[in-house]
Amino acid sequence: MKLALGSDHGGYQLKDAIKKHLEEKGLEYEDFGTHSDESVDYPDFGMKVSEAVVSGEFESGIICCGTGIGISISANKVPGVRCAVVSDTFCAQMAREHNNANVLALGGRVTGVGLALKIVDTWLETEFAGGRHGRRVDKIADIEKKYLK
Ligand code: RB5
Repeated sequence: MKLALGSDHGGYQLKDAIKKHLEEKGLEYEDFGTHSDESVDYPDFGMKVSEAVVSGEFESGIICCGTGIGISISANKVPGVRCAVVSDTFCAQMAREHNNANVLALGGRVTGVGLALKIVDTWLETEFAGGRHGRRVDKIADIEKKYLK
């Protein structure tokens, strides 16, 4: 499993904590930036991570901004990406089990590091349930197709 990571300045410190956590777990990742607290624009990093995921080189992505909102909206503009902003472990589980979210968004100014790492673990360890949820996820792709014409 190889993960694509990205953040703006508001999520930079949380991304750093997530990187250390992934290293401790022996999980592979690539950091698409940003690499400092200097102000940047979150759409640039949401897009980079999403493109890395839909390219097939990365199985999933984790992105952070101040709230997780702006970067998730940006990430979801890339067809094929299902990005969920999560701030609790129940939604982390559901984001994978029901929505098969392939990108997880977190808010560095919202969620403490301890909880954020638990969210990451829950999301990584949960499997997609398929079945009726597969039908619904397919319908999300149908919406994309309708507007990509
Ligand atoms: C940057 O100040 C902030 O707007 C950004 O990190 C994010 O919270 C946007 O949704």
